[in-house]
Amino acid sequence: MSITQTVESVDLAPAMRIVEEMSPLSHGEIIPLLQRLQEAYGYLPRDVVLAVCEETGLPASRVFGVATFYSQFCMEPRGKHLVRCCRGTACHVRGGNRVLDTIEKTLGITDGETTKDMLFSLETVACLGACALAPVMVLDRIYYGKMTARRSELLFKEIMLEESCIRVFVL
Ligand code: FES
Repeated sequence: MSITQTVESVDLAPAMRIVEEMSPLSHGEIIPLLQRLQEAYGYLPRDVVLAVCEETGLPASRVFGVATFYSQFCMEPRGKHLVRCCRGTACHVRGGNRVLDTIEKTLGITDGETTKDMLFSLETVACLGACALAPVMVLDRIYYGKMTARRSELLFKEIMLEESCIRVFVL
């Protein structure tokens, strides 16, 4: 089968474009390569990574090793909105655990899970690098500092409402 063909319904064209733009690829560029692939697909589909390894000659064991070592990479499909909640000390002492509890209750998922409707994925991280703003959460790359349980509940309820309106409108 040609490498440009679709494998198990995953479109390889975006991956091949990225490979072409980044060629020639060296071992030192595995992280930027995976970052771009994840940006294009929302996660790292196994078949895409394998196809890229075949195309570039990068060893699959090394590429998968990097993909599974760094928490920034995800090998499973993620929801439309990615929520990253800090469980670091600075956030914890300022009530971060209450924020996380509220988010889990509001979305009905826990750390590492995705809602059944594929709208939200939740991850916790050791530190989001913005301790002065503790407690902190990140939603779709936007930082929310000095978060409270109430604010997080309102924020997610508002997004859920917007998303349900979008679905009604599309139907
Ligand atoms: S401990 Fe939460 S941002 Fe650093």
